[in-house]
Amino acid sequence: MLKAESLWKSFGNGRAHIEVLRDLSLEINAGELTLISGPSGCGKSTLLSILSGLMYADEGRVVALGEDLAKLDERQIERFRLHHTGFVFQGFNLFPALTALEQVSLPLSYLGFNTSRANKRALAALEEVGLGARANLRPDSLSGGEKQRVAIARAIAKEPALLFADEPTSSLDAASGQSVIDTLHRIARRHDTTVLCVSHDPRLNTHAERVLAMEDGRILSERRATVALEETPP
Ligand SMILES: Nc1ncnc2c1ncn2[C@@H]1O[C@H](COP(=O)(O)OP(=O)(O)O)[C@@H](O)[C@H]1O
Ligand SMILES: [Mg+2]
Repeated sequence: MLKAESLWKSFGNGRAHIEVLRDLSLEINAGELTLISGPSGCGKSTLLSILSGLMYADEGRVVALGEDLAKLDERQIERFRLHHTGFVFQGFNLFPALTALEQVSLPLSYLGFNTSRANKRALAALEEVGLGARANLRPDSLSGGEKQRVAIARAIAKEPALLFADEPTSSLDAASGQSVIDTLHRIARRHDTTVLCVSHDPRLNTHAERVLAMEDGRILSERRATVALEETPP
């Protein structure tokens, strides 16, 4: 589903030169939650940018949904990102003036959905993350964990095949963080989505079924575990 082969990436030159990815390879499967865990500054966000087509590696190859991303032109990459990828960030990135439903339905209008279809999809996505009853609330009436689940609903409403989450639990307490991770896990299972989450928070390691440890610009180890997931909404 998502595959990286021997990625190399560096920034700057001379004394400011920094090598971030060094011969990094990985393969991420659909239908499960994969967590990449590593210290701050180890290159996790850079890796996500490259895997999602936002940035090019210096060397190496990314194959996503059967497409070699380097072979797509700018318009094709934009289309690929718009249709097939969803993103969740640490800071939620919600609009203060919009209700949860509006946050989720707005991006669907860019995909050509009319208002009623967009609202229907948006509500279904909010229900999926356990927020159906809070659809008409604005961010200032929601807890941190709920805001992040709105952001997840926004990312999944278009039903992307690839879902990326960059430190999605960093501004949350442990319980809300766990609920966000469980939500990502459930989405992977139910929709056969390829979900890749990166985090420097080791507390999350026990909640993902597959954990890749990143250090010195490459994946150092891999751990698999069976993680129980209740099939009820959060
Ligand atoms: N656009 C950039 N220009 C220069 N250096 C960068 C750029 N992006 C990231 N870096 C550097 O690359 C390293 C890895 O950054 P990043 O991928 O953000 O790590 P992480 O997400 O794991 O904290 C850091 O040292 C960072 O300062
Ligand atoms: Mg980062």
